[in-house]
Amino acid sequence: MSKSYPHLISPLSIGKVTIKNRFAVAPMDPGFDVASDGSFTQDGIDYYVRRAQGGFGLIYTGGMGIDTDFEKFAPSILDNPAAFVRTGQEINARIAAYGTKMFVQVAFGLGRNAGLSAPSELTILWDPSRKTRALTVQDIETKMSSFVEACKVVQRAGFAGVDVHAIHWGHLLDEFALSLMNQRTDEYGGSLGNRLRIPRELRRRVAEACGPDFPVTIRLGLRTGIKGLGQASYTLDEAEEAGRTLAEAVEIAKLLESYGYDGLSVDTGTLDSYYWACPPSYIERGYMVGLAAAVWWAARWRSTTAATVARSPSWRCYPISSLPGSACRP
Ligand SMILES: Cc1cc2nc3c(=O)[nH]c(=O)nc-3n(C[C@H](O)[C@H](O)[C@H](O)COP(=O)(O)O)c2cc1C
Repeated sequence: MSKSYPHLISPLSIGKVTIKNRFAVAPMDPGFDVASDGSFTQDGIDYYVRRAQGGFGLIYTGGMGIDTDFEKFAPSILDNPAAFVRTGQEINARIAAYGTKMFVQVAFGLGRNAGLSAPSELTILWDPSRKTRALTVQDIETKMSSFVEACKVVQRAGFAGVDVHAIHWGHLLDEFALSLMNQRTDEYGGSLGNRLRIPRELRRRVAEACGPDFPVTIRLGLRTGIKGLGQASYTLDEAEEAGRTLAEAVEIAKLLESYGYDGLSVDTGTLDSYYWACPPSYIERGYMVGLAAAVWWAARWRSTTAATVARSPSWRCYPISSLPGSACRP
């Protein structure tokens, strides 16, 4: 393998953190790793250690909550910070034996996917008879403060970095970024820069709170694959895209880099188009490679980026910068 895929077993830098190889576990909530107080369960600790034993250089957790005032989709890291730090330190001490690094995916919110609050009044995904409440500027401030507090706890627990969850799957930051879902007329709506104001602020504030060397990556959906709210597109044909085109994804990637993000983890789809979010086995293998490569080449991402580029486990989170040059070109 070292001859056929030399990059796969070579180290990868995310900011100042070195990952021993290019195999990464994509962010996935396994459903049993977090206790009701937000700390890691013993099963969760053992699960992550087994992943490290298996040889992964980088492990992402699934999205972890930061507040319970706006939506309670997952226990919050801030529910019991002492327990989070204690159990997180156990994970980090044990995975260090295998040279594995771990990033915690910190979730800003699920928006209309969870059914409570969103950038604007939006039809709730699971109950189209109801609408979300639009977050106020003060709500957004409160959520950003909680997010930064959660990152400080993650850092105290010894994790190597955080991944911002996420401008993808139609979750809250995705809703802010998508003009289809963001009808605000204040500084969080309108231009693309305004719609990305929260990720920009989060990167700046996390650097202030955790130091500039604590790496922060972010998840970005390169295509939404929707014809409208609640309407999937089964072709990914840009002619019927009502959400994000690849051209806009490239612009977003460039802006995220300029905000100081250290890496980008890419995928596709929203919960309206679950077909593209969790692609079934009959979707062409590697369909995401071209999209990921187009962003990498166009945005010239400074730090190497990791991407979930295909449905096959052997391709999961294949780092796009390690693709052979010819295969990378859009
Ligand atoms: C059970 C499950 C839980 C997931 N949880 C998360 C999550 O918490 N955060 C996230 O960014 N993506 C999450 N994902 C999406 C995966 O990271 C990945 O993008 C998706 O499964 C598509 O890649 P695949 O075709 O290789 O499975 C989850 C996927 C699954 C199947």
